[in-house]
Amino acid sequence: MRFTYVTLFESLISSYFEDSILKRAIQNNLLSINFYNPRDFTKNKHGKVDDYQAGGGAGLLLFPQPLFDVLDTIKKENPDAYFIFPTPAGKPFVQIDAKRLAKKEHLVFVCGRYEGIDERVIETYGDEVFSIGDYVLTGGELASLVMSDAISRNIQNVLGNEASLSVESFENELLEAPSFSKPPIYEDKLVPSEFLKGNHAKITSLKNKMSESKTKYFRPDLFSRFNARH
Ligand code: ADE
Repeated sequence: MRFTYVTLFESLISSYFEDSILKRAIQNNLLSINFYNPRDFTKNKHGKVDDYQAGGGAGLLLFPQPLFDVLDTIKKENPDAYFIFPTPAGKPFVQIDAKRLAKKEHLVFVCGRYEGIDERVIETYGDEVFSIGDYVLTGGELASLVMSDAISRNIQNVLGNEASLSVESFENELLEAPSFSKPPIYEDKLVPSEFLKGNHAKITSLKNKMSESKTKYFRPDLFSRFNARH
């Protein structure tokens, strides 16, 4: 899998890949990343990439020319590239999307700044337009990283233990059950005794129940969908 980032702030993104699991994924050739800066594609003297909004409105937008030129270049060099635009005005990014997009060869994240991106760029190039939550960030970099991270761990062999993927939150439409490690008692706080007895059928059934109650409590929206289907 290749991730390309179109961003004015490469270092915000590159630093995330300098440690841990994603660093290993790059070293093992499961993942590669590269960057394009729209500022390198400007045709004005000052490397300007932002301008006032047509019709008024607070704040500046990334205007079309540098973005069209950078995206045309990427598309020409990579006909299989799939373009993703992070914006709070997109559809919610969820786990099913992370799994689905992990099967693509090449994802391009186009990061907005200021008040966003001229809509004509999104209309022309956007294969998908995602929001990572109902709040507004200062740019698309963090949102792109959030999506890249969630997608990467669904690429085969990126996580050491693939089995961990099948029991986590949002699999089976529920939040993951609480987990415990050692020791069994820590400052008077106990691991539920069933977890210590080694009867795996019972542990699974208990975890399923815990998963349901946790979902009901924290995410009634998910729980009612789950209930309607089961
Ligand atoms: N850019 C700014 N805020 C965002 C959000 N919530 N999701 C995706 N991209 C964004």
